[in-house]
Amino acid sequence: MLDLAIILPTLDERENIAPLVDRLDAVLGDIAWEAIFVDDNSADGTAEAARELARTDSRVRVIQRIGRRGLASAVIEGACATAAPYIAVMDADHQHDPALLPNMFKTVRSGSADVVVASRFLAGGTAAGLSSERREKGSRLANALARRLTRTELSDPMSGYFLLETQRVRDLAPRLAGIGFKILLDILSVAPEPLRVAEVPLQFGERRAGKSKLDRAVAFEFLVGLYERYLGQIVPTRFMLFSTVGALGVGVHMGVLALLLLLLGSGFALGQAVATFTAMTFNFWLNNWLTYRDQRLKGTAQLLRGWIGFCLTCSVGALANIALASWLEANGLFWALAALAGIVIGAVWNYALSSRFVWGR
Ligand code: GDD
Ligand code: MN
Repeated sequence: MLDLAIILPTLDERENIAPLVDRLDAVLGDIAWEAIFVDDNSADGTAEAARELARTDSRVRVIQRIGRRGLASAVIEGACATAAPYIAVMDADHQHDPALLPNMFKTVRSGSADVVVASRFLAGGTAAGLSSERREKGSRLANALARRLTRTELSDPMSGYFLLETQRVRDLAPRLAGIGFKILLDILSVAPEPLRVAEVPLQFGERRAGKSKLDRAVAFEFLVGLYERYLGQIVPTRFMLFSTVGALGVGVHMGVLALLLLLLGSGFALGQAVATFTAMTFNFWLNNWLTYRDQRLKGTAQLLRGWIGFCLTCSVGALANIALASWLEANGLFWALAALAGIVIGAVWNYALSSRFVWGR
């Protein structure tokens, strides 16, 4: 009878996984467990290495995802793939000590808590593994905000190490954003009733091999998460990012145009054409990097095809923009409002088409 599934999201963790399975085996005793590696097609061959383990150990399972990214969605997918009534989510890089699992498991199974979280900030825990002081500070600040969202007194709501009933995650899955890495925060904040939480101290260790994937993304993902939570219902997060990038593109356009006209003395039509292409290229690059960071296009062929697609989309969007704005203006609408309406229509059009045809969702 399967009791517990350990969900292990992985991105380039090849060297870490075999020793981790050994450590799980050593501490889990009479708990019937399976380990599910949810790998986002790591370039270092993590999925192959995990399958190699799975051939000789039926407790090891592998989900290899192609063309998708993200810690949170990997966790949700792992939870949907197991028959075990309980799941533990942990990092595959040995920063989370598997020795805590039996106790965490007992606490949840006995019903004395809905979720057990291994906390770096509880007395007896340490955050030594947080590589920089800046990150530690950021982490504390984010925690204070997060406690309000989760309606709990958790000392470490951003922890990536926790255990709960599998069904709970599956039930909440349709409401989970699945974006970014703060999956525990999401689970706690979308639960209809505040969940009963318990904490165990975690001595957050050093990662064994490889490097952190979150360093650069951490702050950004957190801001995106806050936006998603408070305003995401009104203007969808991705559209908001797309529009922000678009607004920056207008700045780029003006800068380039001014440069060409004023410094290089080019004609207006040529300047406008060059500025338009520069801005479209800039927008394509920034959207690929930010707005669609979880489904980023990579490699020359993909990037080239994406860039051409994006420029085509934008050209059609610009036509729609001009057509609508001129029509409205001709029918007596104040010019600035007409222009604004054109811009909004163009942006919605560009967004709808490029999210479908350039970044393919
Ligand atoms: N499938 C998948 N997809 N796995 C990922 C992805 C992804 O996009 N990004 C990271 N992972 C995996 C890593 O391979 C590792 O097993 C685990 O998720 C944690 O990633 P790290 O890159 O080691 O994160 P960290 O140590 O910097 O961050 C830790 O602390 C954060 C709070 O400060 C983690 O425990 C986070 O969960 C935690 O929120
Ligand atoms: Mn780590």
